[in-house]
Amino acid sequence: MSWKDDLNKAVEALSRARLVAVSSGAGVSKESGIPTFREAQTGLWARYDPEQLATPAAFERDPDLVWSWYMYRYSLVRQSQPNSGHHALVELEKLVPTLVILTQNVDGLHRAAGSTDVVDLHGSLRRFKCSANCRGFPTPIDLSTISYSQEQAPHCPHCSAPICPDVVWFGEPLPADALARAFDVASKCDVMLVVGTSGVVQPAASLSYEARRAGSTVIEVNPVASQVTQLAHVFLQGPSGQVLPQVVDWLKAHGNSSPITEV
Ligand code: OAD
Repeated sequence: MSWKDDLNKAVEALSRARLVAVSSGAGVSKESGIPTFREAQTGLWARYDPEQLATPAAFERDPDLVWSWYMYRYSLVRQSQPNSGHHALVELEKLVPTLVILTQNVDGLHRAAGSTDVVDLHGSLRRFKCSANCRGFPTPIDLSTISYSQEQAPHCPHCSAPICPDVVWFGEPLPADALARAFDVASKCDVMLVVGTSGVVQPAASLSYEARRAGSTVIEVNPVASQVTQLAHVFLQGPSGQVLPQVVDWLKAHGNSSPITEV
C-alpha cells in the first residue's frame, strides 16, 4: 500500500465517522520541544530512568529528587506551545460530529491549542496537590501562593506532607472517572486515531484494542512502528506535526468525494 492509499483509507473512515476518539501520547508534544518519556534524557537528567522517578516509592524515598525532575519537565511545559499536530486535531474536531481526546500527556497542550473535550488519563503537570491528600488546603494547590524552589519539594501548609504534581505514577490507579469515560468512548467510536504513543503503558494501551474489538477503524500516526501498529488498519508513518495537518487538508479536500489518485 502506498502512502496515498493509506491516506485515502484514513480520510474515508474519518469522513463517515460520527464519533472519533484520539488516543494521544508523548510523541504529539515532541515537536513542541518536550522530550518523550522513553527517549534519552539530556543534560543533568541523562543518568536517571523516568520510570524509576515516576513512582510513589521514589517520591517517598527522595521527594526532592522527584520534585526537581518534575520542575525540570514543568519548566519545559511552561515554555512550550502547541504545535501543528495539536492544531490539526482542533481543526479535525470541527470537521466531524464528535471528537474526544484521550490523552496520556500531562502537559495540557491539547487544551491550550483549543481542543474542547480532553480526558486526562495521567493527570496534569499544571496542577499540584498534597501527597498525603489531606485536603486541608485548597486543592489543586496554587504554587504562586506558597514559597517553593526548583530543588526542594515544598510542604503542604496544612499537614506538612510534601507537595507533588497531580499526575499518575507507575503503580497507581488512573482517575476512575477518566478511565471509565475513556473506555466508554473507545467502545463506541467509529475511528480511533492513535497518535504518538509507544502503546506499552496500561491501561491506556488497551484503548486501541478495545476500539478494534468493538469494530472501529484504528489509524496510527507515529514516525516508527509501535505496539499499536500490528492492530492498526492504517499506519500513517511520520511525525504528527506533519501527518495530522495533511490528514485534515485531505479530509477537507476529498472527504466526501472520490479517492485520491496517485500523482
Ligand atoms: P513514549 O515515550 O513511551 O512513546 C512516545 C511515542 O511517540 C513513541 O512511539 C515515538 O515513536 C513517538 N513519537 C516520537 N516523535 C513523534 C512525533 N514527532 N510525532 C508522533 N509520534 C512521535 O510515550 P507514551 O506512549 O506517551 O506515564 O508513554 C505513556 C506513558 O508512559 C506516559 O504517560 C508516562 C510514561 O511512563 C506515566 O507517567 C504513568
